[in-house]
Amino acid sequence: MANPRKILVTSALPYANGPIHIGHLVEYIQTDIWVKFQKLRGNKCIYLCADDTHGTAIMMSAQRKGCSEEEWIAAVSEEHQRDFAGFGIEFDNYGSTNSPENYELCKLFWQSFRNAGLVRKEAVTQLFDDEKGIFLADRFVRGTCPKCAADDQYGDSCDQCGATYSAREIINPVSTLSDTTPSVKTADHLFIQIEKLHDFLDQWTQSGEHLQSEIANYLKGHFLNEPLRDWDVSRPEPYFGFEIPDAPGHFWFVWFDAPIGYMASTKQYCDRTGEDFESWWKDPSTEIYHFIGKDITYFHTLFWPAMLKVAEFTLPKKIHIHGFLTVDGRKMSKRDGTFVKAETFLKHLNPAALRYYYASKLNNRVEDLDLNLKEFTTKVNTDLVGKVVNLASRTAKFVQQTGLSPEYPEDGGLFQKAAEAGDAIAAAYEACDFNRAIRLIIELADQANPYVESHQPWNLRKDPERQQELQDVCTVALNLFRQIAIYLQPVLPEIAEKTNSLLGDPIVKWEQAASPLTGTPVKQFEHMMKRIEEKDVNNMIEESKDENETVEAEENTTQSTDSAQPLIDEPLADEITFEEFAKVDLRVARVVKAEHVEEANKLLKLTLSLGGDETRQVFAGIKKAYNPEDLDGRLVVMVANLAPRKMRFGISEGMITAAGPGGEEVFMLAIDEGAQPGQRVH
Ligand code: 2FM
Ligand code: ZN
Repeated sequence: MANPRKILVTSALPYANGPIHIGHLVEYIQTDIWVKFQKLRGNKCIYLCADDTHGTAIMMSAQRKGCSEEEWIAAVSEEHQRDFAGFGIEFDNYGSTNSPENYELCKLFWQSFRNAGLVRKEAVTQLFDDEKGIFLADRFVRGTCPKCAADDQYGDSCDQCGATYSAREIINPVSTLSDTTPSVKTADHLFIQIEKLHDFLDQWTQSGEHLQSEIANYLKGHFLNEPLRDWDVSRPEPYFGFEIPDAPGHFWFVWFDAPIGYMASTKQYCDRTGEDFESWWKDPSTEIYHFIGKDITYFHTLFWPAMLKVAEFTLPKKIHIHGFLTVDGRKMSKRDGTFVKAETFLKHLNPAALRYYYASKLNNRVEDLDLNLKEFTTKVNTDLVGKVVNLASRTAKFVQQTGLSPEYPEDGGLFQKAAEAGDAIAAAYEACDFNRAIRLIIELADQANPYVESHQPWNLRKDPERQQELQDVCTVALNLFRQIAIYLQPVLPEIAEKTNSLLGDPIVKWEQAASPLTGTPVKQFEHMMKRIEEKDVNNMIEESKDENETVEAEENTTQSTDSAQPLIDEPLADEITFEEFAKVDLRVARVVKAEHVEEANKLLKLTLSLGGDETRQVFAGIKKAYNPEDLDGRLVVMVANLAPRKMRFGISEGMITAAGPGGEEVFMLAIDEGAQPGQRVH
């Protein structure tokens, strides 16, 4: 290639706070395919990522695990990298936002903002958890909606009436970190006056070059039609992050240093390879592409371009935004077992199958992608195994002795046609329209298979007079197969590898698809891809259900929440002594009455018998999961010595135990028949 492009590509940095799952993989597989395509085209392309390691959630996870934040993020990073590698996702560097390189770059950005006079200070009053000693971000607060009085709502919005508010307005706020009532405290915060970049952002987002049109329109309609609010970029201590050099006791907010992590990862790459960092981030001829999900549009399309502009770095050429993953038409769900961790997928299924399926569904629009498990199986079995791999498996064995014909035989124009299709396929990859690329490639397989069937090499081999014809037919079939393997290399690098082993000609350039291989030996055909068995898919789903059942219940289930933060792999709480455990008096109780509470959307009022005349009234957040009539007479396990709590509907005199993230996914603990109300649970 005369003028290779210089392309820097990133995927969003995953939070160092949980495992990689099939939802994440949409983006990493998408990006990896695009990068592999660019490399195959001969461009100089690097793919960078890192773990996003700062913030309160990570601080709390480390605390619960009883380790330092550094230990926690190191362990998570190892798992993330293992999972990505398992799916053939290859980064040129995988860093961490908690790196010295990132700190240096953050300082540089900060200084640019200071120099431009864009930083201002303002006192912010927030809820404060006295027990944990930290300011509470909205998502760590729950309480009663100030607008409609719905109980147990998020700190920033109500899922009953849709109102948004600040956590300070919420009635009866409770810190979800310690289950205590927060106090109110004021601290200085530093803000960036992003409105001063309004004109630039208008022009950059609306130029039609950098964003999908639906995103540009969304920004215009929701943010750019009014003054942009100043961006709060600091958090007072304690906070796990970088302390701001000219504001001791204040830390950069995680979203300030996260995108800078793209550059810090580049810096590590350059230090390792001896390349020049500025040639990647200061040279306007370098093309920068960010792949992200639609949930983080705002940060990447307004703040990040503003940051790069002020610090005088190259702006992204394109921010490519994708939708969310659904499974069988529904949100990924722990209860359905569709919240599948990368690790669990790899235990049951071939990662190449997921790469192929996602590729076949991805286009360049901001649409959600549905993983339909039936279609997944059929697509892989019919297209990949049935149409592609079969081309080689049915013919390679007949030319193992002779190799390929010395001249490329007459094939009715099939090879030429497939060579010509290369441009359209490449254009589809380039535009991230992988669905179209796959359709075009499978069309080639649909043309090649009838050729093999009509020439029946398996019959030719029986006729000693027709051995030349046999060699020619197999030469054509294997060349058509090889073209497909080249076009599919970005999606299925392993099949390309196996094609190398079979035909002894490594696939390294897209252009190889334009010239046939002739006169070369053919090795023994090694198995390339197995069919997917339905039972393997089912086992994966079942195992994912089991994993989620063992998830520890939240401390206080009557306050249980809808899952804003996935609970998978929630680390264990700090160790306690037996004496501490013994303070919790768990009792068997029988539900003698279960009733709806008017106006409460999540609560049922339970009257529980502890044997004899002892009863307790408990408000439990289980309404979405249980009908009152199904609860009458059943045994539950309750915390009997919890201090009574005054609620809007009455006093709650204890708590019943249950697992699950909340909402419809609440699973009450049962106890075997024979247990008597009032008995203590040890
Ligand atoms: O939404 C997330 O998962 C963030 N950790 C993404 C950060 S992307 C970049 F800005 F670092
Ligand atoms: Zn409300």
